[in-house]
Amino acid sequence: MLSIENLDVYYGEARALANVSLTLGDGEIACVIGPNGAGKTTLVNALARLLPIQTGRIQFDGEDITRLTPQELADRGIALIPEGRRLFTTMTVEENLELGCYRPAARMHRTQGLDQIYAMFPILSERRWQIAGTLSGGQQQMVAIGRALMARPKLLLIDEPSLGLAPLIITQVFETIKAIHASGVSILLIEQNAAKALSVSQRAYVLDCGAIVAQGAPETLRQSHEINAAYFGHGL
Ligand SMILES: Nc1ncnc2c1ncn2[C@@H]1O[C@H](COP(=O)(O)OP(=O)(O)OP(=O)(O)O)[C@@H](O)[C@H]1O
Ligand SMILES: [Mg+2]
Repeated sequence: MLSIENLDVYYGEARALANVSLTLGDGEIACVIGPNGAGKTTLVNALARLLPIQTGRIQFDGEDITRLTPQELADRGIALIPEGRRLFTTMTVEENLELGCYRPAARMHRTQGLDQIYAMFPILSERRWQIAGTLSGGQQQMVAIGRALMARPKLLLIDEPSLGLAPLIITQVFETIKAIHASGVSILLIEQNAAKALSVSQRAYVLDCGAIVAQGAPETLRQSHEINAAYFGHGL
């Protein structure tokens, strides 16, 4: 469904991604794990075309999407849940959700989409008129997830959904990710919480210093002492 080939991304002179290749099969969850500063956010932001791509090629559903705009990607069914949620904190919950369906194709399903999100997160239904910035961190993450789902994505890019959340809330967020996946959405999951990420994925990549340093089945990576020692400490 998604294939990235030999991607290079620079910030000025500094190469943040070097020759990154990965694939995501139809209906899969693939995770990209790695330490702070590895280039994980750079990778999803480049995929979402929020950053320019110097070299490399990205294919989605058999189409070369390397040069498409973020709007065109939204029309193809690619949505991003960005690192740190990036809500419009002075707008209400519902206004934030509505921003997810600004494209005409998604707009047609606005009411159905809102019903779906409120069924998934009843607390957001109760708080639909609350200013988003006054929600708890976990509730804000629900809004960020809901906003992306309003676009009716086929592929969801999720950047560090567990960031800054308590363990119990992290578990709930991962349950939600599993439910979204079960509904037929493919997911590229970026996480520092390697144990959680590997537990829901069918394919895993380890990114370090802008390069893929290991890849394979989650079980294989989990059992590799070398990888555990280098990247996960006692995390697994
Ligand atoms: N706008 C920018 N300008 C210059 N350098 C940047 C910029 N954004 C990120 N970088 C650098 O690129 C590298 C990768 O950053 P990135 O945010 O992609 O890492 P990350 O893996 O997402 O880290 P984290 O786990 O902390 O979110 C880092 O060295 C970072 O300092
Ligand atoms: Mg990041």
